[in-house]
Amino acid sequence: MTDLCWSGREGMLFHHTGEPLVGFGGCDYLGLATHDAILDALCKGLGRYALSAGASRTTTGDTRAHQKAELRAAGFIGLPEAVLLPEGMLANIAAFQALSDCKAALIDERAHSSLRTAAAAAGIPLHTYRHNDATDAASKLNTLDTPALVATDTLFAATGDIAPVPELLEALRPDDRLLLDDCHGIGVLGPRGRGAIEQFAINDPRVIVTATLAKAMGVYGAIVAGPAPFAAKVRRSGAFVGTTPIPPALAAAADAAFEVHTCELDRLARLRSSTARVREALTELGLITNGRTSPSPVFAITIEPEAAMVRLHEELARRGHFVPLIGYPGGPAGRYLRLSVSAGHADDQIDRLLTDLADLAPALRPQAPDVEGANTRIRS
Ligand SMILES: Cc1ncc(COP(=O)(O)O)c(C=O)c1O
Repeated sequence: MTDLCWSGREGMLFHHTGEPLVGFGGCDYLGLATHDAILDALCKGLGRYALSAGASRTTTGDTRAHQKAELRAAGFIGLPEAVLLPEGMLANIAAFQALSDCKAALIDERAHSSLRTAAAAAGIPLHTYRHNDATDAASKLNTLDTPALVATDTLFAATGDIAPVPELLEALRPDDRLLLDDCHGIGVLGPRGRGAIEQFAINDPRVIVTATLAKAMGVYGAIVAGPAPFAAKVRRSGAFVGTTPIPPALAAAADAAFEVHTCELDRLARLRSSTARVREALTELGLITNGRTSPSPVFAITIEPEAAMVRLHEELARRGHFVPLIGYPGGPAGRYLRLSVSAGHADDQIDRLLTDLADLAPALRPQAPDVEGANTRIRS
């Protein structure tokens, strides 16, 4: 499957030796990467600003497009200010650098690698707590000097697990901070898809958010959001000062993506209903066990021995579905099937996938669920 490539404008299709496969992978959860209004905003932005901003925003690279996108992002997420960074890894680095007065960082053991990189870049000593275990986080936090920075992904990219954000917030001491890496939550979580702040109804100045614009928002770049004094520190961080921002045209496209998301809530409704259908079917087939109500559009499936998982992956591909078999860090096993749903999937594309899975799954015998509850290991 090494010659498999996303087809771009064709939405969910991937090409494999000429045969299109319907992709059930990636992170374009709302299908915004191919949205005409967003692509138009990008083209108009190119017409107006050309390509590169040419310099750091602290010198000559600032534009109205960047400023406007930041205002829109803050309003969308529901925090006082937002700062654009070139991408999510740098957003985390900038956020940690802005919080470098923290004495320690306490991070979920399965959090995205960029949070570890960010702690190292900011020179903050790193500690970890057991995955999604707020009790472990609370007891470890109490052994650390204050202020400490607790950090977690909100929606975990590999498994679809959702972090216990209210419990983590409860564990904070008065001066501690909670960083929510909402790269997979923005656009997806919360009643209107505004992300973790909306999902958990958070109103606490100790909480800050980082989020990429390259996944559900369908564009590129990232934001760091939080209270105004924190945002001012982000603007003085090495990661912000020392980088060229995303091209202004991309900032214009990001602005358009927030507007499209806000105006076209039927996309979110569609993602929710497709996700619920797939979740229900995978649960019935014994392929997942992590609850019937989670809003996560990401599902991880592991099968033992691995050869059986490879066979399922290949048989699905033969039938026209690309369900990626990956070894991305943070998963339930060394390799696993990461199935993701998008509002861009047509009903009949999902129908066919579920029919073929129902046909193939009985040959795989379920085993006991994972301790973390995310997935069922299937032994064939
Ligand atoms: C949880 C999480 N944080 C950060 C990043 C980095 O974002 P970007 O791809 O914009 O650098 C990713 C991207 O894969 C991610 O999944």
